[in-house]
Amino acid sequence: MSATYLRLWRLLLRRPGTLALAMLGMAGAAAATGLFAILIGPALKLIFATGAVTAPTWIGGWLGHFLRAQPPARLRSALPLTLLLVAAFRAGFTTLQARQMAELCLRTVADLQEALHRKLLQLPLSFFEGRHSGEVFAGFSNDLGHVERALTQGVTYSLRDAFQLTALVWVSVALDWRLFLLGGCTLPIGVFAIARFARALRGVSIELQERQARLVAQAQDLISGATVLQVYRAQATALRVEARAEDELLEVGRRSAIVRAAVTPTIEFLAQAALALVLLWMSLHRLDLPPEKVVSFFGAVILAYQPLKSISTNSQWIVPGLTAAARLFRLLDAPAAIADAPGARALAPKPGPIDLAFEGVTVRYGEREVLSDVNLDIRAGERVAIVGPSGAGKSTLLHLLPRLLDPSSGVVRVAGQPVRELTLRSLRHHIGWVGQEVFLFDASVADNLRVGGAGADIDRALAASGALEFVQALPQGLDTRLGERGLRLSGGQRQRLSLARALMKQAPLLLLDEALSALEPQLEEEILDRLTALGSATLVLVTHRLRTAERFDRVLVFEQGRLIEAGPPAALLRSSGWFARAHAAGEHET
Ligand SMILES: Nc1ncnc2c1ncn2[C@@H]1O[C@H](COP(=O)(O)OP(=O)(O)OP(=O)(O)O)[C@@H](O)[C@H]1O
Ligand SMILES: [Mg+2]
Repeated sequence: MSATYLRLWRLLLRRPGTLALAMLGMAGAAAATGLFAILIGPALKLIFATGAVTAPTWIGGWLGHFLRAQPPARLRSALPLTLLLVAAFRAGFTTLQARQMAELCLRTVADLQEALHRKLLQLPLSFFEGRHSGEVFAGFSNDLGHVERALTQGVTYSLRDAFQLTALVWVSVALDWRLFLLGGCTLPIGVFAIARFARALRGVSIELQERQARLVAQAQDLISGATVLQVYRAQATALRVEARAEDELLEVGRRSAIVRAAVTPTIEFLAQAALALVLLWMSLHRLDLPPEKVVSFFGAVILAYQPLKSISTNSQWIVPGLTAAARLFRLLDAPAAIADAPGARALAPKPGPIDLAFEGVTVRYGEREVLSDVNLDIRAGERVAIVGPSGAGKSTLLHLLPRLLDPSSGVVRVAGQPVRELTLRSLRHHIGWVGQEVFLFDASVADNLRVGGAGADIDRALAASGALEFVQALPQGLDTRLGERGLRLSGGQRQRLSLARALMKQAPLLLLDEALSALEPQLEEEILDRLTALGSATLVLVTHRLRTAERFDRVLVFEQGRLIEAGPPAALLRSSGWFARAHAAGEHET
């Protein structure tokens, strides 16, 4: 916990100038508050005093000198005006402090957010497996919120309050240490109470935070699973689950409100009890004290209420913030399993298609081998279709090329170079990709395409992917927003758009994982012919349609992680292997 605390401070210290100015503001405001307490007694005395008045001798330093140097007539205006000046300084310093701290905290959170976004892009796919994306996401944004609150309310306010308290304690001790000891006798009780409250609130806040994250994840499931829920008439059950989660959240929220409601009255009661004790003692024992000094003392005690109260309510944000920060730091420190090797080279841009090779490639998930000793060369410009039963390892093979996954053993080469020795950036720059699961952003068609490549001709990419017509028919054409995950389009339209996005890159290697499976076979073939006519890329396509595969230069058949057949489709058809059998079975059906 303290390591996290220190690390947060190190983040704040990255902007030493801003922090120093903020501290200056806090110190200035605290000093002004102390001065205000000192001056309030003598100022009030002016109202009641008749005849010539002089500044009290117990005000020390240059202020005392200045006030005592004033002739009695002038003092009547000088003292209130000094008070005014002090108040103005206090306001100025407070503003300075608040502005600098807000700037510092917001920037620190923005830095953290940026670092996290960058990290999320680098994390290996394995990181997201077995986690609910909603929980990752909700956790992520919730945690950032908690860190922000811990910084702005916990750290900033506590620091400011600590400055104020120090100044006021110092002033009241300097005014009269006996009174301070007397009044301070409730202080230990106060500190104990604050600590208890802070602990109670802390437990509740952490619970609240976890339940909120779970609720967001559940809500996300409700939204993204809406179709499934409706078809299976499962809404009622889903809503029951949701309602239970909400009830629990309400209960925790209520507990937090009860604790919070007790904080202010308790602190106020303790401070007022202290004052009453002092008054009692003073009225019983005659203390030889000038009345204005007593008024100033009371002024200091009353002014100390505010920071005390504020510390007790704000310290509750620190621990949830630290817990959240610890989680975020863990995410930041998670090794990006797939990262540039030291000394990685950039793959030089080459005109025209590139060749690929797999040498003894094996991929294991835990104990299970999903690709076994794959050896394969693909020539530059070749069009290769990968077929085989579901779960055979086809998608896994494609994932190896842009290094979404590294093999457990063996070497994958792109343009003759082992992919592990290339920079990820340059490697991925050479690859156009349409994954098995289409993902489109909730942005305009044009913006979605530009993710692929900014410079390319949009119409050309749309025409080649067979998407031009339906895009033109959309209400706002290229500017039409697609809705979350592109849900405003049909499945086949989404596939064609993501193909267009891949084409925008004009990459020399095009990997299509059942990229057109939602289209009618004729349209799929037409589009693939258009891609062939472009002829600028090596094309690897995973498909379950044998007819499509037959139009390719070579067919690779995978079964249970092994490459069992490879060759031109005509040759495979003549043999009696998997492909020929599947082909015969398919023909039999039609
Ligand atoms: N992250 C993972 N963890 C464990 N096993 C995995 C993981 N991803 C894939 N697998 C397993 O690896 C095997 C190959 O998966 P892959 O996605 O490559 O199959 P595929 O040939 O593309 O199948 P399909 O035609 O259904 O898309 C499957 O048996 C699958 O269960
Ligand atoms: Mg697959």
